[in-house]
Formats: sequence, C-alpha cells, structure tokens
Amino acid sequence: MASGNQKKKALFICLGNICRSPIAEGVFQKTVNDMKIGNQWEIDSAAIGGWHVGNPPDWRALDVMKKHDVPYNNTARQIIFEDFNYYDYIFGMDEENMQDLERKAPRGSKAKLLMFGDFDPQGDRIIRDPYYDSDSEGFEKCYQQSVRCSKGFLEQLEQDMAK
Ligand code: 4NP
Repeated sequence: MASGNQKKKALFICLGNICRSPIAEGVFQKTVNDMKIGNQWEIDSAAIGGWHVGNPPDWRALDVMKKHDVPYNNTARQIIFEDFNYYDYIFGMDEENMQDLERKAPRGSKAKLLMFGDFDPQGDRIIRDPYYDSDSEGFEKCYQQSVRCSKGFLEQLEQDMAK
C-alpha cells in the first residue's frame, strides 16, 4: 500500500482522449486489477485538446479493448490545472504530448510528467496517434505497447520503493 494508505494516482494523456489514452487507462487498470493491487490506484485519462469532451472512445479503441477483455466505461475530458497537483503520475504518449504537458504544468506542481513509452522494455518509446489511420492496426499496437509499459512502469515503481 502507498505510504499513509493513500492511493497512488495516475492520469493518462493524449491529444484527443478518444484513442490512445483510453486504451492506456483501461490496460493499466486491468493490469493492477489482475495483480490484485487495483485498490491501491486511482486512474483516469484526459485530453490536451477539448474537441471530443463528453464522447466515448473511437470505435476502433473500443473494439481493441473488447477483443482483449479490457473493460472501459469512461468518456473524454480535457486536462485541467488542478490535475497537475492531484495526480502523482501524468503519462503522455508522444513528444508532442510531453511538450504540451510541460507548457501547461503550473510551476512546482506535484505530478511527475512521464512518457509512457519510456517504460517499454522493448524500447518502443512513441505511442503513435492512430486517429487518422484507415484501419485498426495502430490501435492494436497501442494496446500491445500499453500492456508492456504498464508492467514496465509497475516493476520500476516496485524497485524504486524497495530502495
Ligand atoms: P488520440 O487521437 O490523441 O490518441 O485520442 C486523436 C483523436 C482526435 C484528434 C487527434 C488525435 N483530433 O484532432 O480530433
């Protein structure tokens, strides 16, 4: 359990919050649930931009989650100022997300801004935006990356806590 019995909080960010960050959120939630540590985490996702606020994920993201038995029931929202002091970890999917997050973060805010792909043991750092693709392959790839990065991050965290 986190120190002080507080839940650890993670927020997954992408540009629109309808393709990559919902998959990352769903997969991370499933990963901690499967590890029986779901009660130690509070998890959400959000967008850099406001275009899709209130909408469910893109049907291709929902399809890929369904295919891999990842439950998902959230809708898009845009990141707010307060998120930077509420969450412990805010994960971006690509370099552009990281630049946007760093630009938006209030000075001295609590959240660690991390690129999710940095926790991929295969070193595939960028979770590419599949929104404009004509097929679903990029969504499947995002799922596979999210599985590896979720495990990679949680393993790293465990090692850091044991120090
Ligand atoms: P996401 O994909 O950032 O992975 O959710 C996108 C979804 C929508 C848009 C861009 C990226 N858009 O410009 O509407």
